[in-house]
Amino acid sequence: MADVVLKAVEKSFGSDRVVKSIDLSVEKGEFFSLLGPSGCGKTTTLRMIAGLETPSSGDLLIRGERMNNVPINRRPTNLVFQRLALFPHLDVMENVAFGLRLKGMPRSEIQRRVADMLDVVSLAGFQTRRVAELSGGQQQRVAIARALVNEPAVLLLDEPLGALDLKLQLKLQRELKRIQRKTGTTFIYVTHNQAEALTLSDRLAVMNEGRIEQIGTPAEMYLGSATSFVASFIGRTNLIKGRVERRGAEMRVTDGPLVIVVNEATGLVEADMAVLSLRPERISILPASAGEGVDATVSEVEFLGSTILYRMRLTDDRLLLVQTLADAAPLSEGMATRLSWDKHAALSIRNTSVSEDVE
Ligand SMILES: Nc1ncnc2c1ncn2[C@@H]1O[C@H](COP(=O)(O)OP(=O)(O)OP(=O)(O)O)[C@@H](O)[C@H]1O
Ligand SMILES: [Mg+2]
Repeated sequence: MADVVLKAVEKSFGSDRVVKSIDLSVEKGEFFSLLGPSGCGKTTTLRMIAGLETPSSGDLLIRGERMNNVPINRRPTNLVFQRLALFPHLDVMENVAFGLRLKGMPRSEIQRRVADMLDVVSLAGFQTRRVAELSGGQQQRVAIARALVNEPAVLLLDEPLGALDLKLQLKLQRELKRIQRKTGTTFIYVTHNQAEALTLSDRLAVMNEGRIEQIGTPAEMYLGSATSFVASFIGRTNLIKGRVERRGAEMRVTDGPLVIVVNEATGLVEADMAVLSLRPERISILPASAGEGVDATVSEVEFLGSTILYRMRLTDDRLLLVQTLADAAPLSEGMATRLSWDKHAALSIRNTSVSEDVE
C-alpha cells in the first residue's frame, strides 16, 4: 500500500499558484526524492505533507487516511530541516529524548530507545556531549536520530545536508541510505542537488515551476527523460531538435551540421518534430583526419577529476558537450577534431511541449 498519496494537490499564496495539481504516490519503505531548481515548490509540497501548510485544493492521504486538515502533531510524519533546530545547550541524550518525554514515556524506555537510535546514526557514547560541542555532521545526525526515535511512518527531510561541505555530504548520504534501509522508514527527501537525488532515491520526482515533470527511478529518468527539462536537469545533455525524415531504410533528424539516425523503437515517425538527447559521454572524439563524424573545434576544456568535459564548437557555431575519461594529455583549445557517436546513442524526448530547457 502507498504510504503517502497526493491527488491533484495545489497550493496558492494569494494569487500565486506555487504548487500546481501534483499527483504522486510514495510506497511504504521507499526512499523518494523531490528534485528541482530553487523556487519550484519542493519545500511547500513537503510542508503540506508535514501539516505546516494546508493544500488549497486536492487530497493528501497518509496510510489511506485523508490528512488535509489534520494538525501536525496528529500525523505519522516527522520533519528534518536544512538548518535544524536542536537545543544547543542540552546534551545529545536530551535532544534525542525530547519527543519521547513529551509523550510521557518511562525513563528507562527512553534511555533504551535513545541509545539504540544513537547506535543507528553512529553516535553511540555521545549521550552526554553538548550539541554545541559537536561538528556539523554530528549535529545533523542528532537531528535525524531525534526525528527517527519517534518512529514516524514517514520521515520528511528538507535539504538536510545542504549546509555541510561536499565530503561530509557524501559520507552522510551513505549513512542516510543505510539508516533508511535499516529502519524501513519511508523517506521523502527534498533536494536541488541532482547527484544526491540519483544516489539516494529508489524513485524521484523532478519538479519545475510547481509541476511534476516526471516520476521514475534514477535510471529511467536518465535514460528515458520525458521532457527536455528533465534531460538537462538530470545530468548534462545535448538537445537536438528537428523534423524526422526518411532516407531509404533509415530515419534521420537533421539539426544544422548534426545528422542523427533515430531508432524505430523511439516511436518517432516521418515528419514528426523530434527532440533528441545526446549525452556528452556517448560522443567520441576522432582526429580531424578521420573519414567520419562532424567537424568540431575544441572551445573549452573543463577538468572534472576522473573525466574531462569539452565544449566543442560546430561549423554552425553551436557548442556540443563531450565528456571523456580523464587523459594525461587532454586536447587543447582551438584543436580541430571530428565527433561521432553510435547510431542509436541519441534518445528521444517523449514530450516536446512541456517546458523550456534549463540554462
Ligand atoms: N509563505 C509563503 N508566502 C508566499 N509565497 C511563498 C511562501 N512560501 C513559499 N512561497 C513561494 O513559493 C514558491 C515555492 O517555494 P518553495 O520554498 O516551495 O521552493 P523550493 O523548491 O523549496 O526552493 P529552494 O530550493 O530554494 O528551497 C517560491 O516562489 C516562494 O517564493
Ligand atoms: Mg526549499
